[in-house]
Amino acid sequence: MLLGAYAKLHYNPNQLAMDKFVIRGGNPLLGTVRVSGAKNAALPAMAAALLTEEQVILENIPQVRDIETERKLLAAMGAEVELGFGRAHHRTTISCGSIRNPEVGYDLVKTMRASSLVLGPLVARFGRARVSLPGGCAIGARPIDLHIKGLERLGARITQEHGYIEARADRLKGEEIVFDKITVTGTEDLLMAATLAEGETLMLNCAREPEVQDLAELLIKMGAKIEGAGTATIRIQGVTRLHGAKHKIIPDRIEAATFIIAGAITGGDLNVTACEPQHLDALFQKLQEVGVKIVPGPDSVRVMGDNPLQAADVNTEEYPGFPTDMQAQYMALATQAEGASIITENIFENRFMHALEMVRMGANIKIEGRRAVVRGRTALSGAAVLASDLRASASLVLAALVADDETIIDRVYHIDRGYEHIEEKLKGVGAQIRRIGEIFPKKKAMAKAAGR
Ligand code: EPZ
Repeated sequence: MLLGAYAKLHYNPNQLAMDKFVIRGGNPLLGTVRVSGAKNAALPAMAAALLTEEQVILENIPQVRDIETERKLLAAMGAEVELGFGRAHHRTTISCGSIRNPEVGYDLVKTMRASSLVLGPLVARFGRARVSLPGGCAIGARPIDLHIKGLERLGARITQEHGYIEARADRLKGEEIVFDKITVTGTEDLLMAATLAEGETLMLNCAREPEVQDLAELLIKMGAKIEGAGTATIRIQGVTRLHGAKHKIIPDRIEAATFIIAGAITGGDLNVTACEPQHLDALFQKLQEVGVKIVPGPDSVRVMGDNPLQAADVNTEEYPGFPTDMQAQYMALATQAEGASIITENIFENRFMHALEMVRMGANIKIEGRRAVVRGRTALSGAAVLASDLRASASLVLAALVADDETIIDRVYHIDRGYEHIEEKLKGVGAQIRRIGEIFPKKKAMAKAAGR
């Protein structure tokens, strides 16, 4: 009953920004769920279109809010961006022949930090860029100092004022760049910039994520000369121009992993299709340690959660280690495992907000700095909880799927940033989940006055 009355309230379907999920736990997930294209591969690929005046066509684009933000950002600069999500295709076509102002304002950057990915391409092709510094972020400071240092190494002159970065360069010059820290979008930003720099660029201590490799494959199709993407050392021979290309974005390994944990936590039997199992080795090894049955196929994974779960520690690391983007989801699973799991978050300094919400659902979690100690197994009970960021929201959905009674998750616009139609996908395999919108305050008063 907890929220039945609430869910009956009339709501404005357009009020997506304040949407909530109501989830009734207890159903094992059974059947097949299809994974969408990777948001974190699509975003750099869309930025790469700035490197040429010719048309770039990207397939398997996920229909998520961050992609719409990227479309707005490119269009605001003067790019022609078509975004189509039909039954047969999820495609964007981008032409950056007529970029009038290579600038990105704070209004867009504050909603999506990955906007900084346009910095490298803009300086490389247009010789100038003005991009708002990203503000704070729920999961940590997330500066972009390494992007800036790398561009300066390539000869860009960078000033910062009024919350903006101004970067200028007649033509970038190839150099050796050693990243002080492994950074995914830092590697991607500099990789794109180096493709049009004069001479050779050698980048060391690079991120090895599949999304970096996928970007390099697109750039090579566009005529770039790149060796070593996917390893810690990437060598780029600069060229004078790049041409258009067509490219299919890789599947979203984090979405796949989230559904795999959904199958495990609900004691279900789930087929997760259209994914790349070889991107998930660290997760598979950990889940098998916990007692989850995993059967990988060529482009799908079957997960069976019918075994009792045993606690296992996790350390988040850069790829190919256990992904930080799976830490919150793993924590939900750990609440259902027998024993104490120590989860150490080594990448971001504030990525445990989901833990306090799970405690409100009955989980036994103690936070000590970068470590969370989860003691299970605890029965979770439905509650009203708050999503704070993209992966935290996903972890609360997972916890709600196994909690008794109903859970309402507020601010699910976070989850819409990176999961395509997640409630439809979950409903399709037996979850009891529905999206409800927040009625406007004045309408709430009217509803109350009308005795509804
Ligand atoms: C990418 O963010 C992903 N986003 C993140 O996914 C992911 O969590 C992260 O990589 C780590 O895997 C996209 O790809 C769009 P980093 P990114 O630069 O590139 C520090 C999601 O849920 N750092 O690899 O911004 C930084 O503070 C999102 O989809 C600097 O100090 O992350 C962090 O501690 C969340 N200076 C560490 O490095 C810099 O200039 C790794 O960050 C850059 C990063």
